[in-house]
Amino acid sequence: GSLWDNYSDIVSDRMNNPKHMGSLTEEDAKQMGGKLIVADFGAESCGDAVRLFWIVNEDTDVIISSKFKSFGCGTAIASSDTMAELCLGKTVDEALKITNIDVEFAMRDNPDIPAVPPQKMHCSVMAYDVIKQAAANYKGVEFATLEDQEIVC
Ligand code: FES
Ligand code: FES
Repeated sequence: GSLWDNYSDIVSDRMNNPKHMGSLTEEDAKQMGGKLIVADFGAESCGDAVRLFWIVNEDTDVIISSKFKSFGCGTAIASSDTMAELCLGKTVDEALKITNIDVEFAMRDNPDIPAVPPQKMHCSVMAYDVIKQAAANYKGVEFATLEDQEIVC
């Protein structure tokens, strides 16, 4: 088949029509009664970059709003959109356990068929790393001090 067939419908929908693309401001945080977290992650080798915005309830550590912006490819946009959605309603520590494998799995139309071709798995790694960066910012610790989850790329 054509390369076109290597992507799930979910990937296609989310890259063309992401649900969680956007930004959050201090004003939004005030209205929702949470703390604004902004995190950047980039891949130096290619220049791709993602920015994640969270509003976190500081009493419960629950992520009550989650949005992203991206300078990545379609797969990176779809992955970031899925990642932002998976973060919603989780505590920061629960969100830290989300990996790019979870993101890819959540984008499958069929549980047995990969959502993206293997060459594109690396595009979902930024979605994983930016969660770590957001959590590090929230906790006030260095990125490198947070435990690595198992990823595939
Ligand atoms: Fe660069 Fe996908 S993010 S090719
Ligand atoms: Fe940059 Fe894929 S080409 S992360």
